[in-house]
Amino acid sequence: MSERAVCFPGARQRERGGIIFTMELLERETSLQELATALRDAAAGEGRVALVSGEAGIGKTTLVERFTREHRASSRVLWGACDALFTPRPLGPLHDMAAQIKGNLPTLLSSDANRTALFSAVLAELQTRPTIAVFEDVHWADEATLDLLKFLGRRVTRTTALIVLTYRDDELGPQHPLRTVLGDMATSHAVRRVALSSLSEKAVRSLVGDRAIDPIALHRQTAGNPFFVTEVLSSAEGGLPATVRDAVLARAARLSPSAPWPCCKPPPSSARASSPGCFQKSRARRRWPPRSAWRLACW
Ligand SMILES: Nc1ncnc2c1ncn2[C@@H]1O[C@H](COP(=O)(O)OP(=O)(O)OP(=O)(O)O)[C@@H](O)[C@H]1O
Ligand SMILES: [Mg+2]
Repeated sequence: MSERAVCFPGARQRERGGIIFTMELLERETSLQELATALRDAAAGEGRVALVSGEAGIGKTTLVERFTREHRASSRVLWGACDALFTPRPLGPLHDMAAQIKGNLPTLLSSDANRTALFSAVLAELQTRPTIAVFEDVHWADEATLDLLKFLGRRVTRTTALIVLTYRDDELGPQHPLRTVLGDMATSHAVRRVALSSLSEKAVRSLVGDRAIDPIALHRQTAGNPFFVTEVLSSAEGGLPATVRDAVLARAARLSPSAPWPCCKPPPSSARASSPGCFQKSRARRRWPPRSAWRLACW
């Protein structure tokens, strides 16, 4: 399979005439190397946990997808996602993974086996061969999944697995349940942190290419958030794409009603995009919205 690095904003991979064209992954070489080193340790018998963090749209999924694609030949890849459901499904990501595994894990999961037996079966599964087990978006993890992660985090060095957790670090308030899991892992020598940062002006310039768009203004407006940059570039309409507006407003909707906007009542969604003052004062007191979303909302 041949692979060429060309950029398709908004899409990670497309096929044309049997050739896979892959989106150019900018400024993530160090992160890929850190993950590769952790995987080498794991394959040698000292399992690792990699914490891949950053704001929404910073490129966590894209990075991990690229990493797993590069190492698929030497490691089994298991992928499970947490979802922002109104009724969380217990052990959601494990159900995803079980569908990719043979053996007794799927049976245990579908029966009423107790949690200890189930967690032990997962651990045993991660001892059988080099594995990359990705738990996506654990800021949305249900409580049972958080327990599983605690259990695995304390035992991972006895496996040949690299457990990758992705999460939005700017959505973790002090009381967020994931905090206790991260706290437990804080002192573990098995943990590797891969914090993703915004794209530089140079990277944004390269994504803009020969389009008639000012890369400096786009970088300033998006704060280098890859999702916002690529959505704006792929928008045929010009201006603020609906995908971006929806992403910003969806996050606003998740704010707790008990934590009102400090400077004023939450403005109606249509007004939020045009009330920078309100956003600005709110931002001073909380970590949301991220710099990039705020700037775009004020577009
Ligand atoms: N390093 C990069 N270089 C260029 N474009 C990128 C890069 N990383 C991500 N992108 C683009 O940004 C988009 C958003 O990335 P991605 O979905 O991986 O973000 P995320 O951090 O997983 O967001 P979320 O928290 O919402 O899941 C991708 O579809 C891709 O087009
Ligand atoms: Mg993602």
